[in-house]
Amino acid sequence: MAHILVLHGPNLNLLGTREPEHYGATTLDNINQTLRKQAKAAGHELDYFQSNAEHELLDRIQQAANKTQLIIINPAAFTHTSIAIRDALAAVAIPFIEIHLSNVYAREEFRQHSFFSALAIGVICGFGAQGYELALQAAIEKLNSN
Ligand code: DQA
Repeated sequence: MAHILVLHGPNLNLLGTREPEHYGATTLDNINQTLRKQAKAAGHELDYFQSNAEHELLDRIQQAANKTQLIIINPAAFTHTSIAIRDALAAVAIPFIEIHLSNVYAREEFRQHSFFSALAIGVICGFGAQGYELALQAAIEKLNSN
């Protein structure tokens, strides 16, 4: 059994009502519950954490060292700004998948640069809430093949 951590960055607590044309109508709670079931069915344990504060995400990543085998992260706006979160992921050396609900490449230019993608196992974007399930499916296959 592996331990998977799902991290959600700023403003993702507003999913369901936040700019539904970009982020859909599914709530964060819904996403988390679906992922937990999906992980459980595959025999793995899943935790999730959302914060609007960069330092809280940093702390959660540091706490995951030696306890978590894989991270799924939507850094949200921190994708485009946070060298600190990128460095924390590099420091703990936990493989991670980057995910975005919207297709960031079809949006403003400032969304098209990520500080995370070059370190990620892979990146999923543009599939809305389903992207999290796709990311978890990929994570499970990766963990089972280790
Ligand atoms: C996002 C895309 C980011 O550019 C944005 O700042 C977000 C959400 C997404 O999931 O599509 O907050 O990461």
